[in-house]
Amino acid sequence: MKIIKVKNYDEMSQKAAEMFIGKIRRNPEINLGLATGGSPVGLYKQLVQDHQTNHTSYKKVKTFNLDEYIGLSGEHPNSYRYFMNEQLLNHVDLNKSNTHVPLGDTENPGQQCSHYEQLLKEHGGVDLQILGIGSNGHIGFNEPGTSFQSETHIIELTPSTREANARFFTSLEEVPTHAITMGITSIMRSKEILLLISGDSKQDALSQLLQGAINENFPASILRTHPCVTIIADEAALGK
Ligand code: GLP
Repeated sequence: MKIIKVKNYDEMSQKAAEMFIGKIRRNPEINLGLATGGSPVGLYKQLVQDHQTNHTSYKKVKTFNLDEYIGLSGEHPNSYRYFMNEQLLNHVDLNKSNTHVPLGDTENPGQQCSHYEQLLKEHGGVDLQILGIGSNGHIGFNEPGTSFQSETHIIELTPSTREANARFFTSLEEVPTHAITMGITSIMRSKEILLLISGDSKQDALSQLLQGAINENFPASILRTHPCVTIIADEAALGK
């Protein structure tokens, strides 16, 4: 794993954007793996700005999101589809049919999981995956205990994850209890991974990621076995 140390959130976003833009320019047909949460918001802002100023084109880019809440339609303001549209997808020249987020309001979530995994395979997988990390070590919505062998699947969210994400909802009760998420194996198949870690609330997660045991109780630990992972971490996350 390569670690890039930066001062703060803005510098993290800037560095991540430089890397993304370089990759997109070198491979205009790149398959991007996208994440939600606060960590990549600054990156997406920079990508939109760059698109407007320098006209980096996304015409042939395909995007695949990590996860979606079960029970929320893409029009729901708290759905990850909505979040992605607002933060990035509506603001660059992506062909909407090339953007993929698991469907959260489907009648058959189990079938949606196999369909999504199939979609990833049909398109040759993700070239560059962006990740954030939950304080409990989750990546995507792969909570502690998720099998390292998992493909896209349904997950029950832990109380701590629902509490952490309640800030986007009006109350904790509104936070869905389940989600569809790409599995650990699905994530590990990406050719390259960029993990963004910012803020002192992520200090423990980062040190466990770097120094803890590699096991399913801390899902992100598997990233230590991936051949091409870059972490961009700010001073607050790195601690003293
Ligand atoms: C959510 C998402 C994850 C994200 C995590 C951390 O649970 N499913 O993909 O990495 O939150 O979020 P944040 O970046 O806001 O700390």
